[in-house]
Amino acid sequence: MRVDVVSIFPEYFAPLELSLIGKARGTGILDLAVHDLRTWTSDVHRTVDDTPYGGGPGMVMRPEPWAAALDAVAGPSSTLVVPSPVGKPFTQADAHELAGLEHLIFACGRYEGIDQRVLDDAAARMPVREVSLGDYVLFGGEVAVIVIMEAVTRLLPGVLGNADSLTEESHAAGLLEAPVYTKPAVWRDRAVPEVLRSGDHGRIARWRRTESLLRTAARRPDMMAGYPVDLLDKKDRAA
Ligand code: ADE
Repeated sequence: MRVDVVSIFPEYFAPLELSLIGKARGTGILDLAVHDLRTWTSDVHRTVDDTPYGGGPGMVMRPEPWAAALDAVAGPSSTLVVPSPVGKPFTQADAHELAGLEHLIFACGRYEGIDQRVLDDAAARMPVREVSLGDYVLFGGEVAVIVIMEAVTRLLPGVLGNADSLTEESHAAGLLEAPVYTKPAVWRDRAVPEVLRSGDHGRIARWRRTESLLRTAARRPDMMAGYPVDLLDKKDRAA
C-alpha cells in the first residue's frame, strides 16, 4: 500500500518509523512518504493560512498550497482522507476498507480547517473521506493520522505474525474482548479465573463469550443495542 501524508509538521510522524509500522515500511508492505505542505507555497513567508470569509476566530488553510500538493501526490487510484472533528466517526470497518485500498493521501488540517473548496475540488477526481476520531477537538489532523495508520497497517497482510489476533480481538465480532491473563497463576493473592486453567476449551469459549457480552453491555450499551439478536444463542440469553 502507498501512503502520502501532507502536513505543516512533518516531524510529527517520527513514530511511524518505529515498531510494526516501521517494520512494514522496511519490508515494503507499506510505502509511506511524509510531505511538508509549505513545499507547495510560492510566497517568501511560505504562507498556508488566512482569515476566514464571513468573520470569526482563527485562521483557515488557503486552497492554493493544498491544490498543488494534491496535484503532485495524487494518482489514478488515490483516496483522500481528511481527519477532522466534523468527519464521520472512524471505525474498525473503516480501517478494513482503507486497508483494502491501493493509495491513501492524508491531508492534515490545522487551525480552523482547510478551505472547503479543496475537498470539493478533490472529490471531483477521487474518493474523499472526512473522518473523526471522536467527539473532541485536537490541534490538527497529525495525531489522528498516526492513529488511523496504526489501525490500517495492522490489517495489511503479513504485518501481524498471528492472523488469529485479528479475528479474536475487540470490535472484530461487534463485541468487546473478554479480560486476558498470563503467568503467574496467582499474583498478589489474585488468581487467574479457574476456567482458563481448566483446559476445557468448550467451557473457556463459553466463559469468554459471557464476559464479552457483560463487558460490552456495561461499557458500550451503544454497541450492545446494535448487536444482531439472532447472533445471541440460548446460553447468551441465560447469561
Ligand atoms: N482534527 C481535529 N480534531 C479531530 C478529531 N476529533 N478527529 C480527527 N481529526 C481531528
